[in-house]
Amino acid sequence: SKDPRSTAAVITLSDKGAAGERRDQSGPLITELLTKAGYRVIEELLLPDDQKKLENELIRLSDGRQASLILTTGGTGFSMRDVTPEATMAVAHRNAPGIAEAIRAESMRYTRRAMLSRGVSVIRGSSLIINLPGSPKAVRECVEFLLPELEHGIAVLR
Ligand code: MTE
Repeated sequence: SKDPRSTAAVITLSDKGAAGERRDQSGPLITELLTKAGYRVIEELLLPDDQKKLENELIRLSDGRQASLILTTGGTGFSMRDVTPEATMAVAHRNAPGIAEAIRAESMRYTRRAMLSRGVSVIRGSSLIINLPGSPKAVRECVEFLLPELEHGIAVLR
C-alpha cells in the first residue's frame, strides 16, 4: 500500500560543510522537525555554495523524485558566495512569495537582521521549494511556524 505521508527533501548549502570543515547542524535539524511533523524525508544533501549544482539537484528532486516539499538552508545572505535564491529562481515555474514574506516577518521578531535574508519560495511542477536561512537557530525559528500552513498548499499541488 502507498505511504500517505508527504515526501520532503532537505539541502544544506555550505562551502565549509561540503568541504568537511564544519559539521552541518541545520540539515539534520530540519529533517528531525519534518519527520516529527509527519513528513517522509527522502533525501538530505550537503552542497557547496554552487549555483549550477543546486539547480541540478532541485530539478532532480522535483522532476525525478517528485518531492512534495524541498527545504534549503543557507546561502541566502549578501556574501558573493550566497547563490541559493538565484538557483531557486532559475528552476522556478511559479513564484509563491507569500511564504518567504512570512518567514521574514516572523524572523524579524527574533532579529532585525532577518531583513538581510534574500530567501525565496517557489513552485516547480508539484514541488514547493522554500529557502531558509543557514543557522540552526534560524531554522528552528522558521520551520515550526511554517509547517502547519504548508499542508494545505502541498495538498493542492498534488
Ligand atoms: N532568521 C531567523 N529566524 N533567525 C536568524 O537568526 N539570521 C539572519 C537572517 N535570517 C536569522 C534569520 C541573518 S544574520 C542573515 S545574514 C540572513 O538570515 C542570511 O543567512 P544565510 O546567509 O545563512 O542564509
